[in-house]
Amino acid sequence: MKLNKKLEEALNAQINAELWSAYLYLAMSADFSAKGLGGFANWMFVQFNEEQEHAMKIFNYMVQRGNKPDLRPIAKVEKTWKTPLDAFKSTLKHEIEVTKMINDLYALAVEEKDYATQSMLKWFIDEQVEEEEQAQEIIDSLTLINGDGVGIYQLDKKLSKREQD
Ligand code: FEO
Repeated sequence: MKLNKKLEEALNAQINAELWSAYLYLAMSADFSAKGLGGFANWMFVQFNEEQEHAMKIFNYMVQRGNKPDLRPIAKVEKTWKTPLDAFKSTLKHEIEVTKMINDLYALAVEEKDYATQSMLKWFIDEQVEEEEQAQEIIDSLTLINGDGVGIYQLDKKLSKREQD
């Protein structure tokens, strides 16, 4: 059974938001690389790939339901962040906004009595808890490091080990 118009619209908007997230993290990855922070750049590049997967999950779900995803323009993202802490604070702020979007989508699926969409969104609800936690952990480390060069170097080494799940 096809998605109704309201859910179709909301899922199209979510695909766009996930692809915008991918673009945001790719820009952060480029900025970190340009500053010689290859580990931070790697972490953001893995995040970029994850966001594309999020978009594809919704895209494939829409196709499965017999709807045609509408791919809209992706808005510009910032190009540079003053410090790694600024970048991760922006990351957390953005992920909190995405969590709100997912929660609103779920509420709409409940309102529309679309049980399959509710089931599909459960994965995203769990994922957002993880995404916020990951960003918060790095913010905590950076806050402790307090701009110290050796600390940044060590954290950069640690983040270089992040691999695609
Ligand atoms: Fe796809 Fe980072 O939320």
